[in-house]
Amino acid sequence: MNSYIQTCFDFIFLKKKSNPVTGFEAKFKQFIPEGYEFSLPYQLFFKITSACNLRCKHCYYSGDSTAYSPHNDLRREELVHLAQYFVDEINITNVTLTGGEPFMQKGIYDILAIFAQNNLYINIITNATLIDKAAAQNLAALLNPKISIFSVSIDGVKKETHEKIRGNNSYDRAINGINNLIQAGFKVMLNFTVTSQNVEELPMLYDFCKRHEIKDLGLNRLEADKESPLQPDLECVIKNTALLIEKVNNDKEFHLKNTSLKTIDFLKNARGMELINSIKLDGLPADSSLRCHSHQRVEICADGRVYLCSAAETKDLCLGSLKENDFKTIWSTRYNNPLFKERKLENSVCKNCRYVPLCKAGCMARAYKKHKSINCSGHECKILDCGGCNG
Ligand SMILES: C[S@@+](CC[C@H](N)C(=O)[O-])C[C@H]1O[C@@H](n2cnc3c(N)ncnc32)[C@H](O)[C@@H]1O
Ligand code: SF4
Ligand code: SF4
Repeated sequence: MNSYIQTCFDFIFLKKKSNPVTGFEAKFKQFIPEGYEFSLPYQLFFKITSACNLRCKHCYYSGDSTAYSPHNDLRREELVHLAQYFVDEINITNVTLTGGEPFMQKGIYDILAIFAQNNLYINIITNATLIDKAAAQNLAALLNPKISIFSVSIDGVKKETHEKIRGNNSYDRAINGINNLIQAGFKVMLNFTVTSQNVEELPMLYDFCKRHEIKDLGLNRLEADKESPLQPDLECVIKNTALLIEKVNNDKEFHLKNTSLKTIDFLKNARGMELINSIKLDGLPADSSLRCHSHQRVEICADGRVYLCSAAETKDLCLGSLKENDFKTIWSTRYNNPLFKERKLENSVCKNCRYVPLCKAGCMARAYKKHKSINCSGHECKILDCGGCNG
């Protein structure tokens, strides 16, 4: 079935479970076949190992004592089998391989071969330090460069900045990895997580990318406590992102895929607030539009646990474990998961906030992790000076 039509079916199917549908949606409902079930995901985010050869200061996993240990990971042949299963039984079309460091997984070539033979869109997120010339050539023999991309993480334009975050001897190896991939004919996208250490280097990123023949850049938002010394100053991020955008705008071939800024950042900033206050905003959006819409993607962790996304990686939001059940069984119980419930902000301060149509109260998974409820704000919001939620 065409994925757009399926998305419409899913949307109305989910909505009609809790609300009567009206207007266009009611008309559309008649086309939903009898016995229709919410679709299987078509995007797989696959963490193929927990192991990593680096110990980056900002890394999500750095505070966890079991981090980077592959002891609980599925075995190599189980991961290869899963790759085949997701192609044959789930019909995924896109896959992102990540970790840990995906090139620490010896089975990566077997896994990639399965996805490549089936013409999947493949994105590999890597620190690139393990991609020598031979590895790049092996990858070139395996993958179609037109539908494969390497997202390489660089955390400083200058070597010392990058190594402050990613550790000694990480910069030259990453740059060599990038060069090897480019020489082998691959498209490389640069992944840059904005922190207090590198925020001043944002405007330099354009020249850095040009020097290395990179045409795609993504700025990542740091996920860390508010108090973390790595948190960048918001004013600095806005100022330096603006300088970067100025450079990028003159180059039609270059793509800034995302900034690290969200609506909530503009609301915390005087100039941003002025801008947003000049927009006419409607009232509270329909509950359904506050729902997380990333349900056509699924994340499989190296230990077999299944989540909707990385933000949902917590015990209560885990959909199940592939060590205990097969994927279709796990996916069929997803309506019990808090993230599949209708989101209601009635008891949250967000209800009376005029910015809710833009902000949408933030990420449901983050709201749940902080408040044990999706009916709260997913932000540490000071707009209403409330810490985000009174729910
Ligand atoms: C977890 S790493 C895994 C892949 C590979 N090891 C790498 O570094 O690219 C994926 C991406 O997440 C980013 N990342 C790690 N910890 C983060 C955090 N606390 N907040 C935001 N991004 C983070 C990394 O910089 C990297 O770009
Ligand atoms: S290389 Fe990636 S997984 Fe490893 S510590 Fe750094 S961010 Fe984390
Ligand atoms: S109060 Fe809620 S809706 Fe308003 S800005 Fe804060 S998080 Fe967003």
